[in-house]
Amino acid sequence: MHQRLNMERIRVAGPWITQKEIDYVTDAVTNAWYGNANVYHERFERAFAEYIGVRFSISLPSCTSAIHLSLLALGVGPGDEVIVPDITWIASAAPITYIGATPVFADIDSRSWCLSFKSFEDYVTPKTKAVIPVDLYGSMPDMDAVRTVAKQNNLAIIEDAAEAIGSEYKGKKGGSF
Ligand SMILES: Cc1ncc(COP(=O)(O)O)c(C=O)c1O
Repeated sequence: MHQRLNMERIRVAGPWITQKEIDYVTDAVTNAWYGNANVYHERFERAFAEYIGVRFSISLPSCTSAIHLSLLALGVGPGDEVIVPDITWIASAAPITYIGATPVFADIDSRSWCLSFKSFEDYVTPKTKAVIPVDLYGSMPDMDAVRTVAKQNNLAIIEDAAEAIGSEYKGKKGGSF
């Protein structure tokens, strides 16, 4: 027991801050005001979209707000159901309740720890409007199968890639689905 307590913790992920990030932040708080207020956002959005391989990206204060706004943009609301894996960070599911819809928790796949497409399919009802597959711990679900089930049932996909920027599924970057 004593030995276990002395073991070094292995962090899931830590920040990687170099002088470059410190310089950018210093420049932003010093100069990015008024006419220049959006300079860093625009640069980031362009670079991010290019890296992920998509046409557009929008920067927001948090992934929680991105999921919240995505649900609102899709018109999901009270009485609707949204399927989400039962092992994830709370923010994958919480925004579903912000808009009055019901989160429905599907099982994960034992290999990827991400949404099982079979369980996803089992939980689809006439009330289901969307699915939120989560790229957990940098892993990714079987996106071909998830997309097939979503398409067959006319469901929107909101990919929660908060933990997987840099991951790939069949050559496509996490966050591009
Ligand atoms: C899978 C997943 N989704 C959503 C979030 C929420 O991100 P944020 O803290 O930026 O709202 C996190 C945060 O760790 C996460 O791991």
